[in-house]
Order: sequence, then C-alpha cells, then structure tokens
Amino acid sequence: MQLRAFEADDEAGVDALLKAAFPGPGEARLVTALRAADADTLELVAVDHGSVVGSIMFSPVTARPGSGDDDLFGVGLGPVAVVPEHQARGIGVALIEAGLTYLTTLGVPWCVLLGDPDYYKRFDFVPAATWNWSWAGDPDGQFAAAFQARALNGAPPESGVATVHYHPAFLGV
Ligand SMILES: CC(C)(COP(=O)(O)OP(=O)(O)OC[C@H]1O[C@@H](n2cnc3c(N)ncnc32)[C@H](O)[C@@H]1OP(=O)(O)O)[C@@H](O)C(=O)NCCC(=O)NCCS
Repeated sequence: MQLRAFEADDEAGVDALLKAAFPGPGEARLVTALRAADADTLELVAVDHGSVVGSIMFSPVTARPGSGDDDLFGVGLGPVAVVPEHQARGIGVALIEAGLTYLTTLGVPWCVLLGDPDYYKRFDFVPAATWNWSWAGDPDGQFAAAFQARALNGAPPESGVATVHYHPAFLGV
C-alpha cells in the first residue's frame, strides 16, 4: 500500500473508486471539475498493488465575515473515499491525517468539511457554528451539525459571524 500525491495516470482509478464508494456520480464529477478549475489544492491517493483504493481532495475555501472585514482563506476537505472492499482498514484515517499534516506544514490556517461528526471528531474537527461560521449552501442551517472546522495553524480565526463559500466548481456538479 502506498499513500502518495495524485498523478495524471490515477485519473481513471480515482473516478472508478468515487463511483464505487458514493451512491451517485456527483463526487466523481466534482473532483474532475476541481482539477479542471485548477482548484485541486491537494489530492492524495492510496494505492494497493497498482490499484487506486482510496483518495482525498482538498480545495480552496473562502470565509466571508459578516462584519465586512477582509475574506479569510483556507481549505475544504472532501470528497474522501475508500473503495468498499478496503474500508475499515485505516485507509480513510491515513489519507485524512496525511492531508491535514501536509497542509499544516504549508501554513494553511484552517480546514472545513461537511461530514459525519462522529467520524471527524477524531481529527479534532468541531462544529463550525462554534466559530460562528455557517456554510453559504445551507441558509436554513439544516446541515449545521455536519459543517465542521478545525484550525491547522494557530488559534481558530476570530472573524465573528462568517459565511463559508466552497469553490464555484461545487455549484456546477
Ligand atoms: C468514510 C470513509 C472514507 C472512511 O474510510 P475507511 O478507510 O473505511 O475508514 P478507516 O478504516 O480509516 O476508519 C475506520 C473508523 O471509522 C469509522 N467510520 C467509518 N465511516 C464512518 C462514518 N460514516 N461515521 C462514523 N464512523 C465511521 C469506523 O467505525 C472506524 O471506527 P474505529 O476506528 O473506532 O473502529 C469510507 O468509509 C468511505 O469511503 N465511505 C463512503 C464515502 C463517504 O461517505 N465519504 C465521506 C464523505 S466525503
């Protein structure tokens, strides 16, 4: 098993893996769109005997303070997926930890995601609402529990109320 940066030759493998791991093709389309938009901040793959069995994508995210102060820039985690036959063997955790460690080294200030809090709390993610942040795609707060954040460098931002925007590529899939 290798964990490494995505290479162009992995494209078909990642596409197949995302289609196998998620119920629909949306995540596979999203990853293709992020690459095409040069918004693939960090993409890692897990490879087992030459086959892509896991992948993770991080993309640029903007937090817009309600105060009118300058925008803040961080990353969004996702999609992350492991092919069903290889799930529950630690590959997802390894991909997430490797990605977060690398982004921390690069000086990225924070990371947000939409996901199951029971899974992500092990990586120290907290509800983004505790930072007074909400996701722009969720004006009614329906997904507030799933929208989580973690500081990577320094303390959590003290922006006050802010609305978080994923890359526009998310809107087209
Ligand atoms: C979520 C996913 C990436 C995890 O990868 P994985 O390699 O199976 O997970 P790991 O083996 O690294 O971690 C296993 C642990 O996570 C837990 N876990 C896995 N999915 C979980 C979920 N949705 N909610 C809560 N816990 C979960 C397991 O119970 C296990 O817990 P334990 O360590 O206490 O025993 C993988 O299951 C997957 O691809 N799922 C389908 C796609 C998806 O939902 N992706 C996430 C949303 S973007």
